[in-house]
Amino acid sequence: MIMPLPEGSFGVPAPVLDRLGAAGYRAMIAGVRLGVFTALEAGPLSVEKLATTIGGDPAGVRSLVNVLVTFGYLRHDEDGVTTAATPGPGDAELFWHEVLFEYWADIEDTIRTGTPRRGFYPWLHERPATAARLRRMFAGAAADLADDIAAALPPAATVLDIGGGHGDHTVELCRRRPDLRATVFDLPETITALREDAPPDRVTARAGDYLTDDLGSGHDLVLLFNVLHGHRPEECRELLQRAAKSLSPTGSIAILDHDREPPAGLGPAAAGFLGMFDLTLWQGQGGGMHRYADLAAWLGEAGLTETRVVPLAASPLEKLLIAGRPS
Ligand SMILES: C[S@@+](CC[C@H](N)C(=O)[O-])C[C@H]1O[C@@H](n2cnc3c(N)ncnc32)[C@H](O)[C@@H]1O
Repeated sequence: MIMPLPEGSFGVPAPVLDRLGAAGYRAMIAGVRLGVFTALEAGPLSVEKLATTIGGDPAGVRSLVNVLVTFGYLRHDEDGVTTAATPGPGDAELFWHEVLFEYWADIEDTIRTGTPRRGFYPWLHERPATAARLRRMFAGAAADLADDIAAALPPAATVLDIGGGHGDHTVELCRRRPDLRATVFDLPETITALREDAPPDRVTARAGDYLTDDLGSGHDLVLLFNVLHGHRPEECRELLQRAAKSLSPTGSIAILDHDREPPAGLGPAAAGFLGMFDLTLWQGQGGGMHRYADLAAWLGEAGLTETRVVPLAASPLEKLLIAGRPS
């Protein structure tokens, strides 16, 4: 149990509290999937009317409502059932539920053998709805961080966005840097769907494998955003060497990721999230979060010894690491 014990739960063993927490979380997801929270957006409903609206069995809906009342998501009084707390952004909750209850399903095997059994991207590829959710989450995260990132990055006319996905960060950067041109480099199955609002005269898509394919040359800025956490240290060092060689003499690399050592004082939820994320990365990609001190050392090995770390106000668990050659 990572959270402080709720008042009144003193003496209840931690695994029991965790089991109850899992039940509350699972019930909340059932509420989201069944449309309970959407149905209640217009105002209170009786249990019977709620059951009719979402197309559920009245007894089942009553029992679910009871659980959701117990866990603080709903209120039930003489006016009917109302929402007491929003269940959070639907995409993020549904995505993490799928990760924890479906993707982690064979995690014991993976840990026993040391070999990821199911790659994250093949798993995602088989689930278009999950992939669409993750895509919206990436786009939202890029928009949230865009002002801070654009303010921190050095001037650049040409950018290579390695593992740039659908071009979310590149599109946001282009909006804030009118003179910039960018190439988004990603796997063929991803890059077929570059964002529709990517300006075609300024953003080019390149399909390939960044671990093996040529990364070009003369780039003013190379972005590695949420990429290195998918790889083991040896792969990161190799990729950073190749990315550094693809820079112009005055070019820089910018890394955006989660630091394995989060800032102090963020509390147990931050450590809990980072642990969950790290295990998920290892389960699917054999990767994991890296210490920023290690990333800086690997950049130094690649000749980029001038490094600075920029915290991001919109996301305290993520940081930018910008590195260039000494002038
Ligand atoms: C976590 S996503 C990050 C996307 C984007 N940079 C962002 O921060 O929103 C990692 C991206 O790396 C791509 N990727 C993973 N392995 C790759 C490889 N070997 N070659 C090219 N792209 C790869 C994935 O398709 C995915 O789009």
